[in-house]
Amino acid sequence: MTCRLVCCVLACTLISVHVYGQEQDKIVLSLPALSGQPGQNHTFYVSQLAKIVLPSPQETRVVGGQVTTNTKLGGYLTALFYENEFVCGGTLLKDNIVLTAAHCFLGRMQASEWIVAGGMSTLNQKGIRRHVKDFILSEQFREDDMNMDVAVILLKTPLTGKNIGKLSLCSVGLKPGVELVVSGWGMTNARGRGPQSLLRTVTVPIIHRKNCRAAYQPMAKITDSMICAAVLGNKDACTFDSGGPMVFKKQVCGIVSFGIGCASKRYPGVYTDVLYVKPFIEKSIKALLARR
Ligand code: ARG
Repeated sequence: MTCRLVCCVLACTLISVHVYGQEQDKIVLSLPALSGQPGQNHTFYVSQLAKIVLPSPQETRVVGGQVTTNTKLGGYLTALFYENEFVCGGTLLKDNIVLTAAHCFLGRMQASEWIVAGGMSTLNQKGIRRHVKDFILSEQFREDDMNMDVAVILLKTPLTGKNIGKLSLCSVGLKPGVELVVSGWGMTNARGRGPQSLLRTVTVPIIHRKNCRAAYQPMAKITDSMICAAVLGNKDACTFDSGGPMVFKKQVCGIVSFGIGCASKRYPGVYTDVLYVKPFIEKSIKALLARR
């Protein structure tokens, strides 16, 4: 809870830094005096904060999309739980292999605490649950700028069943304007009025990397492993969609990674470019299957 609150404050700070056009890396916040304690100055470094920014409270799920079911999508979407708490989305690639984002594992490195659930449309359904045997994060994953935000999971037992589907890895380069389908669960409701656990989906066009890079300057670095998509101010993924797929013609071409705000007028959603990280994914699948 404290963490969420701090993240929220930071997110708002970043947004206001932008609003006030104060484009440096360092921001000094004067925190008001609290219950008898004197006020304090705190220094934050924008480049270190970009990765943890949260959207404004009204925007906690797929934005501008519509409610759907996993079956309608193709049954490839999985829900990832750590210590029984929903954390991220994931994509089923093979009966026992799931693709997700590396940042989902930050502070959650215990394989035995992870559960992957398939066939779920609402988060309160039980779905078909599988334990995680092992996982591999990209060695090049960088927490500070989200470079190479990709991870591959090996399940203990195959995740198969009615309405469970799979996606293949992206085989095409995506030009700006091409539209892809993103889906995921938004867990929280702004004012904590009953969690809305419905699965949502939205169609977003690819945004030119150059434009995306410029938009995020100097808040975050858009690296070559990233691809951006959104209808600015209108359609985007959001917090808790992380790890989920951005789909083009039954292929997973993006992994929800980060963004400043959600459906922001300036900042597109940032995804891991699956075509770019495909060598890592294929190598990891081989290594994991050999470990069984
Ligand atoms: N980092 C977020 C998560 O862990 C994903 C945020 C995506 N944001 C966006 N505006 N597209 O769920």
